[in-house]
Amino acid sequence: MNTPTPRILVVDDDRAVRTAIRVNLSKQGWDVSVAEDAEGALKLIAERPVDLVLTDVAMPGRSGMDLLAALRAGCPEVRVIVMTGYGSVQDAVFAMKSGADDYIIKPVSKDELVLIVERALKEKALLAELIQLRQEVQEKYGFESIIGTTPAMLEVYELIETVADTTALVLIQGPTGTGKELIAHALHYRSSRRNGAFVRVNCAALPENLLESELFGHEKGSFTGAVRQHRGKFEQADGGTLFLDEIGEITPTTQVKLLRALESGEIVRVGGSETVNVSVRVLVATNRDLRAEVAAGRFREDLYYRLNVFTISVPPLQERRDDIPLLVDHFVRRFCKDNGRPLLQVPVAVMQRLINYHWPGNVRELKHVLERAVILSRGETLTGVKLPEAPQGKEPKNEILPEGMTLQAALMEYERRVLIEALKAAKGVQAQAARAVGISRSNLNYRIARLGIEMKDVVYE
Ligand SMILES: Nc1ncnc2c1ncn2[C@@H]1O[C@H](COP(=O)(O)OP(=O)(O)OP(=O)(O)O)[C@@H](O)[C@H]1O
Ligand SMILES: [Mg+2]
Repeated sequence: MNTPTPRILVVDDDRAVRTAIRVNLSKQGWDVSVAEDAEGALKLIAERPVDLVLTDVAMPGRSGMDLLAALRAGCPEVRVIVMTGYGSVQDAVFAMKSGADDYIIKPVSKDELVLIVERALKEKALLAELIQLRQEVQEKYGFESIIGTTPAMLEVYELIETVADTTALVLIQGPTGTGKELIAHALHYRSSRRNGAFVRVNCAALPENLLESELFGHEKGSFTGAVRQHRGKFEQADGGTLFLDEIGEITPTTQVKLLRALESGEIVRVGGSETVNVSVRVLVATNRDLRAEVAAGRFREDLYYRLNVFTISVPPLQERRDDIPLLVDHFVRRFCKDNGRPLLQVPVAVMQRLINYHWPGNVRELKHVLERAVILSRGETLTGVKLPEAPQGKEPKNEILPEGMTLQAALMEYERRVLIEALKAAKGVQAQAARAVGISRSNLNYRIARLGIEMKDVVYE
């Protein structure tokens, strides 16, 4: 197979180091370019994407750690290897914690260098393959892939793998918009019942009597309007999967009937006496805390124990912000494709805002914000991102930084606010605003562009 030549960018302020590494890596047939600082590196990458960046940490101007943060936010698919000297091994540890893929302690032998780079490139290729495979699965089964690589999501995938092809009842718990329905689909399509029906019932949508007839069916004449016999969702899902969504909303009477059906594997149609045997795999989901519902007397304890045998919990997006760049990439790609537009680039400042927002509506909200933004954006970058006001929510308690926020992001956010204030006070006159914060006008201009400040952000009387 013809694979494209891997592209590597080496960033180091020491010319001798840059050159030595370039020579060694080029001998492997890789396409190697060099930059002497973080700014230069970002500029090169914007012009021509690379697969792997090897960066020094201490450099004049922005450090290698800044570069790492910018790459993690703006181009999550790029592999990053951080190079440090013997004296600063703790930098390497910090870099790994901040999302570097590997590190190199300088000076490094040629063999070791090649080995580490080879490994990183291989991982990158595997990741690309995984994304490709996901896409194929999605096309084949017609369901959306689940995106996310944070530990919490990896645990979700592991649970899905473990329990998918069993007949176990699975309780999927998590706040609104976190992908519970997506997980239910994944469980169905990964089970041997995948060719059977997948039947969803929204338990919150119907009043008690209608829900019961929806679930269990009814006999002709069992109530006014029951003009013929009706097979319920349990029967429709025979041989397949029944997904009871919003299970926390069902009334005590229905809870009893549901428990009976789950225990016995048979149902009785409303108004009927005959029992019907069904072979159904049941999945349930809720955004309520069922244990608290039990404590409050709204949910039967026996049913809760029956449902809570195997639970998959999805955390809110706010608690797995590292997944945001991947999700953004996924949705921007998708909506650009759907709308017949070339792929829009996401500016670093826009990505930082998306990462910092608290997302009360979780992935669903992110998806809608991006769909709108793609449609509203003109030109080649994503500009139409609109987030509700006062996004940070609660004041952080006893924390130096709000949960999930990186130092880099916090500093950028602060800088943004300071500059907006200065511009407001100067009524938009840039030279005056620049003087007020003690920087040159061109420096201010550069920062306005980098932080994505637009004139509409600067509202002054
Ligand atoms: N991890 C994810 N990867 C990709 N898409 C996701 C992910 N999580 C959610 N989505 C998308 O977000 C939207 C909402 O997901 P879903 O309907 O599964 O949420 P939910 O947890 O069932 O929410 P609710 O409790 O409000 O019913 C869907 O369009 C889904 O495709
Ligand atoms: Mg749902």
